[in-house]
Amino acid sequence: MPRVTFQPGGESAVVARGTSLLDAAHAARVDLPSNCGGVCACTTCHVWVEEGLDSLSEVADREDDKLQEAAGLSSHSRLACQATVGEEDVVVRIPGNRIKA
Ligand code: FES
Repeated sequence: MPRVTFQPGGESAVVARGTSLLDAAHAARVDLPSNCGGVCACTTCHVWVEEGLDSLSEVADREDDKLQEAAGLSSHSRLACQATVGEEDVVVRIPGNRIKA
């Protein structure tokens, strides 16, 4: 099963294939914001995927539309509630100071 690591803190969790990055964050005890509750209606769960981007689920049109509103959008951006892991390990960076204490 793939390991998902969250930067800048380095917390990680091993999760089952099909787990969202948001659920992986919770498993790793990373309090990644998710203001809409994970229904692709905000951008608070925006992350940059540093490793394993190609192993994640494909970006659906709805996620792509919402991502356009994310600050710091890059070609490695995903919404953590929408991206699910495949077989490979993934390294994710949480932009800026969005980690809740
Ligand atoms: S939690 Fe709102 S889009 Fe992911």
